[in-house]
Amino acid sequence: MIFRYSEEAKENVINDVSFKIPSGSTVGIIGATGSGKSTLVQLIPRLYNINSGEILIDNINIENIDIELLREEVGMVLQKNTLFSGTIRENLKWGNKSATDEELDLVCNIAQATEIINKMPNGYDEYIEQGGANLSGGQKQRLCIARALLKKPKILIFDDSTSAVDTKTDELIRRGLKTYMPETTKIIIAQRILSVQNADIILVIEKGEVVASGNHETLVKQEGLYRDLYLTQGGVVDEE
Ligand SMILES: Nc1ncnc2c1ncn2[C@@H]1O[C@H](COP(=O)(O)OP(=O)(O)O)[C@@H](O)[C@H]1O
Ligand SMILES: [Mg+2]
Repeated sequence: MIFRYSEEAKENVINDVSFKIPSGSTVGIIGATGSGKSTLVQLIPRLYNINSGEILIDNINIENIDIELLREEVGMVLQKNTLFSGTIRENLKWGNKSATDEELDLVCNIAQATEIINKMPNGYDEYIEQGGANLSGGQKQRLCIARALLKKPKILIFDDSTSAVDTKTDELIRRGLKTYMPETTKIIIAQRILSVQNADIILVIEKGEVVASGNHETLVKQEGLYRDLYLTQGGVVDEE
């Protein structure tokens, strides 16, 4: 597929990108700032339409899927998703009004948000300020993840959405997703190699192109951005 933000733009922001994601798998996306990662995932719920090529979900071109249905099936958690003023329960149930408390408990457990709720004097009924001003960045991110899970989308996209969460919690969230949401396709954009290294497939993006792809073991063996990042983030590569 090819995508550029405006017709006048000379360069494509996404250029000749092609990949397949098996349903239920986890895909990691790594790349420098400005390489096109956020743009790429925003094409899935059609926040923008591609200029050429096609995107298929279950073999159906997304242009032929009702836009509201498409956006229900594709959940996205951003680095700075917003919480509104209201109770935690109201915030979590935003996309799924009929969710039960048991469902809330499960998604909070997966998103590592249970301890946040437990610490609140009023639990789920605790009132939070506009933008979640009385919560830390990591707490907000975990609640936003729980909210996205409650919608039970087919595809869940995390765009730098655990950046304020410590690495141990980040790992627990990914493990929970794998265990409790095996049928959901997960796409994880991250700065930390740790966040993607257990993914089934990792795409390395440079200037709008997929320059390498494979699992962690394959990518660390190749010279390139992935291996460089891994080494600068404290990884060790066995020389053969
Ligand atoms: N809404 C937009 N309109 C025009 N250009 C944009 C827009 N959003 C991003 N870009 C440009 O597209 C390129 C890729 O950006 P982005 O997808 O945000 O990269 P990443 O998420 O990897 O940091 C950048 O050059 C950026 O300036
Ligand atoms: Mg981005």
